[in-house]
Amino acid sequence: MAESGGSVSRGTGQPSPEGAPLADTPIAAAAERASQILTPGGTGTLPRPAAPRIMTVANQKGGVGKTTSAVNLAAGLALHGLGVLVIDLDPQGNASTALGIDHRKPGIASVYEMLLDDVPLREAIQQSPANERLYCVPSTLDLAGAEIELVSVVARESRLRNALDPELLRELGIDYVLIDCPPSLGLLTVNAMVAAREVLIPIQCEYYALEGVGQLLRNIELVQAHLNKALHVSTILLTMYDGRTKLADQVAAEVRSHFGDKVLNTIIPRSVKVSEAPGYGMTIIDYDPGSRGAMSYLDAARELARQVLKENAQ
Ligand SMILES: Nc1ncnc2c1ncn2[C@@H]1O[C@H](COP(=O)(O)OP(=O)(O)O)[C@@H](O)[C@H]1O
Ligand SMILES: [Mg+2]
Repeated sequence: MAESGGSVSRGTGQPSPEGAPLADTPIAAAAERASQILTPGGTGTLPRPAAPRIMTVANQKGGVGKTTSAVNLAAGLALHGLGVLVIDLDPQGNASTALGIDHRKPGIASVYEMLLDDVPLREAIQQSPANERLYCVPSTLDLAGAEIELVSVVARESRLRNALDPELLRELGIDYVLIDCPPSLGLLTVNAMVAAREVLIPIQCEYYALEGVGQLLRNIELVQAHLNKALHVSTILLTMYDGRTKLADQVAAEVRSHFGDKVLNTIIPRSVKVSEAPGYGMTIIDYDPGSRGAMSYLDAARELARQVLKENAQ
């Protein structure tokens, strides 16, 4: 076990050789934060769930931060020493891209083959170059057809659940499986909800933020009633918060009044850096570890991991 806390040696305000505090300019402060974040052990350790937590990241609204949250939470958890598998269930493959996985290479096994051709997880899983504890099952454009092709397949709602080989997850030390859903409530999302125990809903701090969430909750209830009793909404993450607008605060307050303590305290700010990172095949945590976006996803990852302690205490 790595030592928790206390091992950060380069603390804020330590005098530099010239005698000036290290973090006296914004750039120096960011660099210092980055070096602390990327120093193994410097961030402390997080509790490991007793069994892998399988979480569906869903919201049928597009552009609310599902993919961004799935990959950056995954990277944050992995940086803290946890094993994470991201399953890219969106034909666009943005999660695969952000994790540095070339999902356009011809002939690769992807989530499509897992769902439709019984290809085992072992063949479709890839390690992300970002972190040795971070894995991804990529998606390819073929997945766009899966929504229709699945209709006539036996056990069409449970294909993903049946493919999640528990032995392999144990072998690879996977603590979290995050499933990045497409922006729809079709069979791919249903497969994600049947495979998971928990739903994480990212909600954008914008107009109409709650639009469609009612429908999502009804679908979750349907899946719960007919296909997966264990399914529940465990986590809400507020994304793309712009502190300059009153609206963002109103949305955040409204979401908290609906969902109470399921809403993580950490709110992800709107930041250009966050949107640039995938263009380089990177998560924000690798692209700019000292940035506000990276810090907030790391905070959110810590909060997510500590939910395990809260649940155990109940
Ligand atoms: N915190 C943020 N700040 C700025 N841009 C963001 C942020 N989160 C996501 N984005 C950008 O917004 C767009 C939609 O995000 P994405 O995660 O792809 O949403 P979804 O998966 O729900 O469709 C992307 O271009 C992404 O880079
Ligand atoms: Mg997406």
